[in-house]
Amino acid sequence: MKYIHIPKILKIDFDKPVPFKQQIAVTFTVLIISCLLFTVVYFQQLLSGNIATETERETKTEASGSEVPTGAEGSTVTSSEPDDAQQSDSSKNSEVSEVSEANAETLGSMTSVSKSYDDIHYGELVLVNKDYSCHSDGENVESIFETKSDSYVVTDRYVSLDTSIIGYVNSMLDDFYEIYGATDIMIACGYRSYDTQVGLFNEEINSVGTQTAEQWVAPPGYSEHQTGYVFDLDLNIDGGNGIDYSGEGNYAWINEHCSDYGFIIRYPAGKEDITGYSAEPWHFRYVGIPHAQYISDNNITLEEYFDIIYKHKPDNPALMEDHSGCRWCVYFVEADEARDTQIPVPENYDYSISGDNCSGFIVTVKLG
Ligand code: DAL
Ligand code: ZN
Repeated sequence: MKYIHIPKILKIDFDKPVPFKQQIAVTFTVLIISCLLFTVVYFQQLLSGNIATETERETKTEASGSEVPTGAEGSTVTSSEPDDAQQSDSSKNSEVSEVSEANAETLGSMTSVSKSYDDIHYGELVLVNKDYSCHSDGENVESIFETKSDSYVVTDRYVSLDTSIIGYVNSMLDDFYEIYGATDIMIACGYRSYDTQVGLFNEEINSVGTQTAEQWVAPPGYSEHQTGYVFDLDLNIDGGNGIDYSGEGNYAWINEHCSDYGFIIRYPAGKEDITGYSAEPWHFRYVGIPHAQYISDNNITLEEYFDIIYKHKPDNPALMEDHSGCRWCVYFVEADEARDTQIPVPENYDYSISGDNCSGFIVTVKLG
């Protein structure tokens, strides 16, 4: 104690009553020392990794899917061997994780399904962009006016979608409504026929010129809207005049969670050179789980995702795990142009087959 100077006010004579001023001084000193101790211990724990920062907490919550409402699913992708596609993707985006690889045994006993070459143009995974035109034109779409839920509105009774995705749209917008109670979400546009796109494209060219028009509107025959797997969101405010949906504020929930319902933001900001279009936070494309979750979790486009999947064949399928812990295998089978293609499929697991609209078929197997 010889070398530590203690102020006189903190020296207590226990034989006398302690004056009020001295009581206050002692109390404050104890408080300050406690705070200092707590701060030192907290930073020690933080550095040793026992306490997560806010950003880490958010990342972990999303990865575990604990904030996903009932009825929603999600996916993370486990990783093992890196592959070339992902290494080149990583140079664009360091968040791209590696896809695991299963082997032929994972799928168990196999059989095959026969598909014609023309079948490559159909299914929820068709790639439609400036290079690959859409071959379907409303064969499986219907108006959602009667089947939509009450959580959102549509611009008119002709807004139509592929019948297979109406339930997923309803679930997502119902869950959004449950959380935020917003009543202004509007589906402005779903399926668009070739002829409608002709009108839209010409209108845009007349209005802003060809170069700008081509950044926003697909040429006729090359719009994803023609697939029926796409819808544009708008906001129904100011007496029903839709205004642009930006996916910000409360609406960010939809853009952040749409992959849990099988949808992707097809034209994300920063990927214009790959998609060929300016960012459109209102344009949602159904591709299904687990594809949507992999694409979203890794911040890649459908084009980049296909580059990854093309490396996985029936004997080395990509292995993915969704946010709910369900495991999936995904693989590509090249189509035979001269004859029907025999697509290997597992005998004991549920699977779906979709054309890629380029050169073959993508098989999605639910391992459970
Ligand atoms: N706005 C998108 C690119 C379309 O016209 O399909
Ligand atoms: Zn759109």
